Amino acid sequence: MERIYHLQLKKEMLKGARFALLTGNPQRVEKIAKFYDPRARHISTHREFTSWLGYLDTVPVITISTGIGGPSTAIVIEELAKLGIDTFIRLGTSGAIQKYIKLPDLIITTGAIRLDGTSTHYAPIEYPAVADHEIVSALIHAADALSLPYHVGITASTDAFYPGQERYESFSGYIIKNFQGTLQEWQKLGVLNYEMESATLFTVCNVLKLRAGCITCAIVNRVVKNKDQIQQKTLALAEEIIAKAGIEALRQLFSTIS
Ligand code: URA
Repeated sequence: MERIYHLQLKKEMLKGARFALLTGNPQRVEKIAKFYDPRARHISTHREFTSWLGYLDTVPVITISTGIGGPSTAIVIEELAKLGIDTFIRLGTSGAIQKYIKLPDLIITTGAIRLDGTSTHYAPIEYPAVADHEIVSALIHAADALSLPYHVGITASTDAFYPGQERYESFSGYIIKNFQGTLQEWQKLGVLNYEMESATLFTVCNVLKLRAGCITCAIVNRVVKNKDQIQQKTLALAEEIIAKAGIEALRQLFSTIS
């Protein structure tokens, strides 16, 4: 078999893996993989897609970067599904929009508001972007087992980091009318956070009959004074927390799903 086009992987390289941990940043992949297997190894890098394979308690697990946003995330799902992966857990970072969310609390997404474009190529906008309930349970179990503070609920998943998340500190400072006032609106509707991949992940996985979940660490709080700028210290802590939670959730899934 040829290597698959974007990921530059072939089935033999995955050693029969069914489980994938996804993260946006290619530089985070090695750290996550080595958390569950100090002997994990790099298997491919092409464009924004870096892949490492390791064994979590004898079970092969691939950790791969999606890059930022829907288009590249959908490519990862499509190509990994062809290679035998059926369970996807996104470990990422997000921006909280509820005052009571502290940094770096975990946010387990049950459903995503589809503010992306990619998911509309797979299903009409009325189709809900929902996480797999067993993965949500496993993520909750993991956060409880690790005594990590967490919140469970709805995420606004955007295509644009600046206007899509109503950030006025962009180059122009201008936000089109459609997005003006949306942060407050989502907040009033009880939405927990902003990130950029879950809408695509959940929609594509449901359409393709695959399982997906998403846990992110809040690295900013957009509605708390002085907590709306990303700090390197918080980011480093977040990476460790999401890796631990994701790995614990996988262990839980190994014991509960076929
Ligand atoms: N990722 C996002 O998409 N938004 C944030 O505010 C932080 C991380």
